[in-house]
Amino acid sequence: MRTRNYIYKKTGVSTSTELKELIRASDGEVFTVICADAQTQGRGRMGRSFFSPEGGIYFSAAFPLKGNEKHASFITLLAGLTVCEALERHCKKPLSIKWPNDIYFDGRKLCGILTEQTKNTAVVGIGINCFSGFPDELKGIAVSLADIGAKPPDKKAFVESVVTALDKEIYENGVLFRGSEKLADEINRRFYLKNKTVTAISEQKEIKGKALGINDWGALIVLTSEGEKEIISGEAHIV
Ligand code: BTN
Repeated sequence: MRTRNYIYKKTGVSTSTELKELIRASDGEVFTVICADAQTQGRGRMGRSFFSPEGGIYFSAAFPLKGNEKHASFITLLAGLTVCEALERHCKKPLSIKWPNDIYFDGRKLCGILTEQTKNTAVVGIGINCFSGFPDELKGIAVSLADIGAKPPDKKAFVESVVTALDKEIYENGVLFRGSEKLADEINRRFYLKNKTVTAISEQKEIKGKALGINDWGALIVLTSEGEKEIISGEAHIV
């Protein structure tokens, strides 16, 4: 098992931005995790910002890759499943996973995940809403642990258990090389887009159809008028 270096801070700009800077400045492999109580410039996918007030859980973990992983993009879904299972154990509510990177409760987003790559290292950034008080533009689309009657978990124990579980799948079980039917089943059981008509966007191409689920390495399967298509990475919106 890798030795992890955990950094806990009160406020940061963005744990992902900070971790990427640390990786760029380093000569060797980085296994650091940065966690902050608040972020002043939390980032989401597609250049969006991520609302990160005091008291949420915001952390980014570095996962050095060998570079020949066949299914490197599976890491986002793997992180989604791992956090989802940890949150379900904590709040005792069923949660769903919206391909490729969000965790939902009852149609609203509880947690967002952003995966970026720097120097052969995947930086997985995870943000969990803990308290209510969303700005107007997020009301109705975001939800917090407090909204669903759960206290925030013990931050250190939570973050470290999620990262340890991810290390096990990635470095011991080699799921980024092999894929995993078992993990895909667990994700499909919680699949938020199941049978919904979606527009999936990948590499500037738009594909419209019915979302069926994911395959053993995390690609989205969409039933289109031309048959089933696999989308390895991108975004999907319900139409
Ligand atoms: C999204 O919803 O599009 C992804 C949100 C990811 C937010 C997390 S919070 C920790 C890490 N630092 C960031 O700036 N973003 C990620």
